[in-house]
Amino acid sequence: MEKQTGGLSIIRFFFNQNKLPLILLLVISILVGGLEAATVAAVYPILTTAFESGLNQSNFVLSVFQNTVKLLPVADQFIGYCILFIILAGLAFVTKIVSIRYRVTFGARLVEGQQKEIFSRLITADYQYFIDHKEGDIIYNTTVAPQGLTRLVTASTEFMSQLILSISVLLLLFSLSWQGTIAFIIMAIIYYVFTSYLSRRVAYISASLQVEAMRESNVILNETIGGIKQIKVFATAGDQVKKFSQTVRRVWSHFVRNHFWQQVLNPILMVVLYLFIGLVAISIRVINPGSFNTLIPVFGTFAFAVFRMVPIMGGIANATMQIVASLPNCETVHELLNERLSSIKDGHRELESFKTSIEFADVSFNYKGRKDILNKVSVYFEKGKTTAIVGRSGAGKSTIVSLILRLFDVDDGEIRIDGVNITECETRSWLGKIGFVSQETFIFNDTIRNNITFGSKYSDEEVVRAARYADADSFISRMPEGYDTPVGDKGMRLSGGQRQRIAVARAMIRNPEILIFDEATNALDNISEAAVQKAIDDISRDHTVIIIAHRLSTIVKSDKIIVMGDGRVLEEGTHRELMARRGAYHELYSSQGT
Ligand SMILES: Nc1ncnc2c1ncn2[C@@H]1O[C@H](COP(=O)(O)OP(=O)(O)O)[C@@H](O)[C@H]1O
Ligand SMILES: [Mg+2]
Repeated sequence: MEKQTGGLSIIRFFFNQNKLPLILLLVISILVGGLEAATVAAVYPILTTAFESGLNQSNFVLSVFQNTVKLLPVADQFIGYCILFIILAGLAFVTKIVSIRYRVTFGARLVEGQQKEIFSRLITADYQYFIDHKEGDIIYNTTVAPQGLTRLVTASTEFMSQLILSISVLLLLFSLSWQGTIAFIIMAIIYYVFTSYLSRRVAYISASLQVEAMRESNVILNETIGGIKQIKVFATAGDQVKKFSQTVRRVWSHFVRNHFWQQVLNPILMVVLYLFIGLVAISIRVINPGSFNTLIPVFGTFAFAVFRMVPIMGGIANATMQIVASLPNCETVHELLNERLSSIKDGHRELESFKTSIEFADVSFNYKGRKDILNKVSVYFEKGKTTAIVGRSGAGKSTIVSLILRLFDVDDGEIRIDGVNITECETRSWLGKIGFVSQETFIFNDTIRNNITFGSKYSDEEVVRAARYADADSFISRMPEGYDTPVGDKGMRLSGGQRQRIAVARAMIRNPEILIFDEATNALDNISEAAVQKAIDDISRDHTVIIIAHRLSTIVKSDKIIVMGDGRVLEEGTHRELMARRGAYHELYSSQGT
């Protein structure tokens, strides 16, 4: 419930972002309300003329219509009033249509804009953001949540026009019978208290709970698709179904609660009003037992206006509920648009080429809530050389690479590119120098060619050249449609070794000066590993290479081997030197029995 206090500030935020169209929308809405009210009022002179009671009545509304009808070139007063009624109804109709059209267009454009902005903010968000948030949540936040804004806009303009309409109609009622109007207002207040209680207790809570449950079901769905192989193999489909069913159950039970109360309000109001109109008729007769000629126009107009108030009040109550119900989603969008998603420093120094080295000087780094992941690490990667990083799982090898790739900022110490602090370098131009291949490769459902070019434009020769580097050209040529062979979802139609070689080709097509392989051959069988390893060895000859390898036999020829342990550098040197030391490396190497 505390969340609701933010409601006004959220509305203000979106209002400030779209001042002009929103003001226009409000003006149109007010116009719609005013014209509709005038149409209702136009019934009064019609009835008065019909019962020939106009002469002995003095009333503001009547005199306005009497003066207006004189402007029409019609002799018969009754017909004049009818024409006025038709004109007003027509005008109200046209403005209403214009307002609906404008509102829908504006609402759609608003959501479109928010979706684009959220997406482009997300894509530049820190890597940490994606670690911290669930995939399903992120998808929900970019697709569904912005739709809350349309709902908010629709509901608040509807609210405004209904409010103007109801005030105008109330004034009309007052001019007819102030006692009846007061009784009516009292009834309306009771009704308002009742509905706002419902909207707060029922609509807001059940809408939030529904949003929450929907998000959860998205998360489950996503995890299921992502982990389908595991789910099948571990035979946990039943558990997944149970989990999903429970959340979906929650979604729809909150839906029922929310929508039942939203829709039951109108029938309740109707029955109360019929009762009211009946009582007013009786009391007018009792208080004022005059001729029916004066009573009927007053009562007729009064009943008509009160009856017209039903949808108006229903509209106001509904709009209030809609506004409240749209707030949880608007809150999410508001947060996303204002939250700081990226804090990684980006420098201005453009790098033309990689000249000498990447140097870690006393670098310390921790993941959120962790300690001593990297502790004063000083290492040196030299241009043109192959440097291997080895160490037990969890030693911090991949973390070193993540820091080079600018996925995180160091906590302490400095990373220097050719002697310049990495935070001063332009991230884009730095990353443009690097090709990266990791253990898990992202292959999307498209052709081999498009998986290699990965969204950028390259010529056929460039694609083939990159594939040759990756030792992939031969297997691709043997595919049914060569480079245009579709690979299936997540590359399921390729073997692990083939997938990795496509990943190497993808890295090589950008002509990188530095190649980083993080356990690129880890998930492969011996034969595939040999193929990928051959590609890596070829590339090492004329590139700067950083290689993290699990199997030490693959890195013995490296120019330098860095041995990591518990976030620190334990030893470094060539294979020969390290073996001679009989330290951590020797132990690691011997334990692998290679
Ligand atoms: N995103 C993360 N958030 C929190 N801890 C992490 C994250 N990534 C890795 N770690 C932790 O950091 C340590 C080093 O991880 P990593 O560099 O991946 O090790 P290695 O690549 O040597 O196996 C491990 O203890 C791991 O649990
Ligand atoms: Mg790792």
